[in-house]
Amino acid sequence: MAEVAAPPVPAEPRIRRAPLLPTWIAKAVMAVTGLVFTSFVVVHMVGNLKVFSGAAYFDGYAAWLRTLLEPLVPPEGVLWALRVVLVVSLVAHVWCSVLLVRRSRASAGPHRRRTGLTASSFGARSMLLTGVVMLLFVVFHVLDMTTGTAPVATDSYESGSAYANLVASFSRPWVAAFYGVTMLLLAVHIAHGVRTAAGDLGVTGIKGRAVAAVVGGVAAVAVLVGNATIPLAVQAGWLS
Ligand code: HEM
Repeated sequence: MAEVAAPPVPAEPRIRRAPLLPTWIAKAVMAVTGLVFTSFVVVHMVGNLKVFSGAAYFDGYAAWLRTLLEPLVPPEGVLWALRVVLVVSLVAHVWCSVLLVRRSRASAGPHRRRTGLTASSFGARSMLLTGVVMLLFVVFHVLDMTTGTAPVATDSYESGSAYANLVASFSRPWVAAFYGVTMLLLAVHIAHGVRTAAGDLGVTGIKGRAVAAVVGGVAAVAVLVGNATIPLAVQAGWLS
């Protein structure tokens, strides 16, 4: 007797689970952590400019940062608190950016439309590139100026001699050029990032968006000009 084929079993409907982290929360996390970093970078730039007041003043400033709020908190207590905030912000910022890029690519599908290059699309597309460069920069920078780790730091690195370490580092033309180029990329990242962050945090309307664009632009130019002047001044021989 011929066997009767079993009727096909209907495929189980695929259940789409809600993402662990909703997109709006990931965007808000990126906005807040990005603003934390922007604030740090602006304050850090103002501190860096103290290098123009001489070695004693700059080294005194670096030492003062380590004694903030003493004796209420132990030596370097405030500095360590700041380091924790920065590392947590950085990890959250990078993690959410990877998550959002993946989601946006998945939702656009394989045949996504590619528009021409406009000023704002340049900023948006460059966020990933400038972000990755900034990540590499921070690693390089901490090895160079904070931990004094060879071969990134110079052979003359000495803990506690912030001024001499900075001048020795920027006396290497390739390092000065690297810092200059990175500050330009950082400015692009900040200008676009502050505008996007404002939107993601609910700033709407022509006036609100214009204010965000101006704040982002001013912060970007200040960080670029303030910071890039320092390696330039070392290369020009104004700081030695
Ligand atoms: C030309 C620009 C810059 C100069 C001259 C500069 C200078 C310095 C110096 C001298 C230190 C060591 C301070 C000390 O040990 O007392 C330092 C630390 C640091 N800088 Fe910069 N910096 C620049 C740009 C930046 C930028 C753009 C960022 C972030 C994107 C950054 C993030 C940091 C961090 C995270 C530390 C480590 C703080 C610590 O853990 O002690 N810096 N910088």
